[in-house]
Amino acid sequence: MVPTPPPPTAALRRNIPHAIMIAVPYQGHINPFVSLALKLASRGIAVTFVHLDHIHRRLSESHSASVDDPDIFAEARRLSPELNIQYTTISDGFPLEYNRDQNGPTYFKYLVEEFPAVVDKFVGKLIADDMADSDSRFIHFLVADTMCAWPAAIAGKYNLVNVSFWTQPALVFSLCYHWDIMKQKGHVPNDNPTEVEINNLPGIKTISTRDIMSVISERREILGETFTIVFDNVKKADFIIHNTVQELESQTLTALSKYQPNYAIGPINFSKGLPTAAVSKSIWSESDLCNHWLDSKSRGSVLYVSFGSMVQIPKHELDEIAYGLLLSGIDFLWVVRAGTSRGDGDVLPEGYEEKIRDSDRGLLVPWCNQIKVLESPAVGGFLTHCGWNSTVESIWCGVPMICRPVMLDQPTNRKLVVDGWGVGVDLYDGGGSSPSVDRERIADKIRRFMNSDKVRDAASRVKETVRNAMEIEGSSEKNFDQFLRDLKVRIHSTH
Ligand code: UDX
Repeated sequence: MVPTPPPPTAALRRNIPHAIMIAVPYQGHINPFVSLALKLASRGIAVTFVHLDHIHRRLSESHSASVDDPDIFAEARRLSPELNIQYTTISDGFPLEYNRDQNGPTYFKYLVEEFPAVVDKFVGKLIADDMADSDSRFIHFLVADTMCAWPAAIAGKYNLVNVSFWTQPALVFSLCYHWDIMKQKGHVPNDNPTEVEINNLPGIKTISTRDIMSVISERREILGETFTIVFDNVKKADFIIHNTVQELESQTLTALSKYQPNYAIGPINFSKGLPTAAVSKSIWSESDLCNHWLDSKSRGSVLYVSFGSMVQIPKHELDEIAYGLLLSGIDFLWVVRAGTSRGDGDVLPEGYEEKIRDSDRGLLVPWCNQIKVLESPAVGGFLTHCGWNSTVESIWCGVPMICRPVMLDQPTNRKLVVDGWGVGVDLYDGGGSSPSVDRERIADKIRRFMNSDKVRDAASRVKETVRNAMEIEGSSEKNFDQFLRDLKVRIHSTH
């Protein structure tokens, strides 16, 4: 076990900007949040990083964290002793055994409505302990995922600088931010299936209602209400940092910067020189079969298939996708996460696994190290639900996408991928889902996609743009430096 470094002296601590970061308990948010913590620490910021108890337990059970090691950053600190990160966990108020996945909407509502009181108590105690220790305090700022409902109130109460971290594209942020304009113009809420073009939002040329997240356009129950709370909240943030790239979304970001300071600093997971791989992030066990299997395949020949950590797809469609993959003749590696199927029955059709095993045409795994898979030269395409992390990881690796968005930000991400940057194609004509899913058509689409030079060339080009952004003189690095300078000035004037 790695010993925690001794705490710096009070005088030193007072001069080090210190952040509290409480992670949102979902895989797609944990990954960029951990990377951001490491990056802040690598720039001399002290970080107190907090996971919920049940996430820590899942990290331990997935063996991505050692059960004996209560500190997920211990190995990272061993590799980079200069990193000043303290790790702790707190309870969300539910028993560890409570099934948060099965009770998704109820749990999410709890996080929005009740959890802020837990955060208030936790932050209050942290600050009180500091004050008891010395005559001055050491916690200066809050870095919260934009999806949290509590930052403005907590930052206000404890006089903390409020940094909001948005883990999805700036286009999605901007749509949520400008919901009131869309409402005024009568574009939303809109349960009418007729598509309408919206062309009066700052920084957004034109977008169809089809490409807007359903939670906004339809104002669906809990999620819809949450977005209103969250985006009223973010308007009070001091700084907003985005896990995107300036060159890919410049107009949107420029328009947003007229209201508040916004900085594109992504893709944060690929920041150089950080011990990111040494921190446990995966809440499922990763199969270790993938890269060995991929090594036996020829360059660009394999389609990687994954629908992320939370979406569900109708059972009949999964069956058609399964047989479509077989009919395509293309080799594939499919992450068959338990719970992907909406409706009765298993994710896969009966007898499918045996068929695949006998043919060596495909590999089925419950979860994998996705970045490692995408980095394999054998992977030539990604059938994806267009989660933002998956999108960014695919672009980073120059792997083109075939898109089947399901919910949340995914329809808007699809628009960027297919219509904006040309690095992907739609699985079904018109994007989203299809009323007439058919295995033959899916097979044909996959074959044509895997043989398309056009989409592969675009993926190579955009990969260069994104990689350049993360170079020392690149836009994301420069924006991060600027953010730190502005943050320090603000801290200085606040404390
Ligand atoms: C959710 C939303 O779906 C997404 O649209 C939003 O942007 C963030 O919250 P998720 O569905 O999990 O996220 O998708 P995604 O954003 O792609 O994140 C999944 C993460 O899990 C990625 O970082 C990916 O690398 C990782 N992953 C996925 C694995 O490590 N192994 C796998 O087998 C599959």
